Amino acid sequence: MTTTEAAAPTIGPADALLFELLATPEGRADPYPRYAQLQEHWPVHKLVLDAPGTSGGTWVLTRFDHCQAVLRHPGFGKDFAAMQRRWGLSEEEMAAQQTFSSDRPSMLFRDPPDHTRLRGLVSKAFTPRTVEALRPHIVRLCDELLEPMSGEVDVMATLAFPLPVTVIGEMLGVPRADRPQFQRLVRASAAALEPFVSPELLAAANEATLEMEDYFRHLVADRRRNLGSDLLSKLILAEDDGDQLSEAELLSTAILLFAAGFETTTNLIGNGLLALLRNPDQLQRLRDDRGLLAPGVDELLRYDSPVQVNGRIAGEAIEIDGHTFPGGSTVLVLQGAANRDPRRFSDPDRLDVGRSEGASMSFGSGIHFCLGAALARVEGQVVFGRLLERFGHIELLDDQPRYRDSITLRGLAELPVRLTPA
Ligand code: HEM
Repeated sequence: MTTTEAAAPTIGPADALLFELLATPEGRADPYPRYAQLQEHWPVHKLVLDAPGTSGGTWVLTRFDHCQAVLRHPGFGKDFAAMQRRWGLSEEEMAAQQTFSSDRPSMLFRDPPDHTRLRGLVSKAFTPRTVEALRPHIVRLCDELLEPMSGEVDVMATLAFPLPVTVIGEMLGVPRADRPQFQRLVRASAAALEPFVSPELLAAANEATLEMEDYFRHLVADRRRNLGSDLLSKLILAEDDGDQLSEAELLSTAILLFAAGFETTTNLIGNGLLALLRNPDQLQRLRDDRGLLAPGVDELLRYDSPVQVNGRIAGEAIEIDGHTFPGGSTVLVLQGAANRDPRRFSDPDRLDVGRSEGASMSFGSGIHFCLGAALARVEGQVVFGRLLERFGHIELLDDQPRYRDSITLRGLAELPVRLTPA
C-alpha cells in the first residue's frame, strides 16, 4: 500500500456523533439529542470508517420517510453473509459465526421466497384475533405477578421479564423451569445484532446461540414423543410434512419466536413505565381514561423504542430521495431516530398518550414487520392497565436508572420503584 492510500480518512462531525451513539455507553444511554443532530444535518450519511470487506459502504439513515422507504423496498434484503462481510470476517470466521449462519436460517435473516414460507408457517398464531383471545389469560398471568408486589421493587426483575417470557413460553411449550436461563442467553446472543461488536462479545453471542440450539434440539426430541397443541408441536408437524421446514429451520424458528417474544416486550414495559413516571401528567391521563391504553402503548413504543436499529443490504444500486446506495451497501435504519422525526410527528420529543398520528417505526415496516406486534401491544396494554388499577401511586426511586449497554435493543438494567396499593 502506498503512503497516499494509507492516509487516514478525515473523521467529520457526523462520524464523531455516530461513533458516540453506536459505540460509547454515554451515547447509547441517551441517543436522542445525537439523533436530532444527524437528522437535521446529515440525514443520509456514509460512515467514513467502513468495516473491511464491505462493498458499497455503510450508510446511516435517521429520517422517517427514508427509513420506511428502505424497509419497504424489495431491493433491500437481509442476506446475513453480507452483514458478516461488513464486520470484515474471513471465511473461517464466518463459518464460526453462528448467529446468522446459513444453516441457522430464521425468517428474520431470510429474503423471499424462504422468508415468505417460514413466516407463513407461524403467522396464524400471531394474528390480532388469535392474540385478542389470549387477553384474559394474560390478565391472569399479570395479576399473579402483581399479587406479591408492594413497596420497593425492581420492575424489570419482577414483572417486565417474567410476564412476556411466560406468555411466549406457554405459547411455544417451553417448560416454566427452563425459562429463566433464557434471559442471559438471549441477551448474550443479541450482541450479534449490534452494529459494532467486539470479537469477545461476538464469540459469547455464538456460544449462547449454540446453547439455545442445543436446548431446543432436546426439547424437540422430547416433544416429538408427546405432541401437544403448542406452537413447537405445530412446527414439528410442519417439519414432518416434508418440504415445508427443515430441522435447522425448525430450531431457528423456535429460538427466534422465543427470543423475539420476550426481550423486546420486556423493554417496552421498562422503557414505557420510566417514560410515564417521568411524565406524571401523561400517567394521570391514563389513570383517568383507560380508553387511552391502546394509543398510549403505541406512543410509549414510539417515544423510547425497544428496537432502535434495523439494517438492510442493497441487492443492487438503489436510489431513494436522490441518494444512491450502491449494490452491496449496508444501510443502518435508526428506527429510534425516525420515531422522533419532526417531519413525521408533531412535537416529537413530547410524550402524548393520546397521540393519533399513525404508526411509528418501532415494529419495523415492510415484509419483516414484527410478527408479534399484536401480542406485544396486548401485553403492554394489560401491564399498564393492571399496574394503574392496582397501585394508586408509583414512585421512581432512581431518577437515572441504567440502560443496558446496547443500542439495537434498548432496555433498562433495573427499574426500582415504590408501589403503593390503591
Ligand atoms: C415491544 C415488543 C416488540 C418490538 C419493539 C418488536 C420489534 C420488531 C421489529 C422492529 C422487527 C422487524 C425486524 C426487521 O425489520 O428486520 C420485528 C420482527 C419480528 N418480531 Fe418483533 N418486536 C416485539 C415483540 C415481538 C413479540 C412479542 C414477538 C413474538 C413472537 C415478536 C416476533 C417477531 C418476529 C418473529 C419477527 C421477524 C419477522 C420477519 O422477519 O418477518 N416480536 N420485531
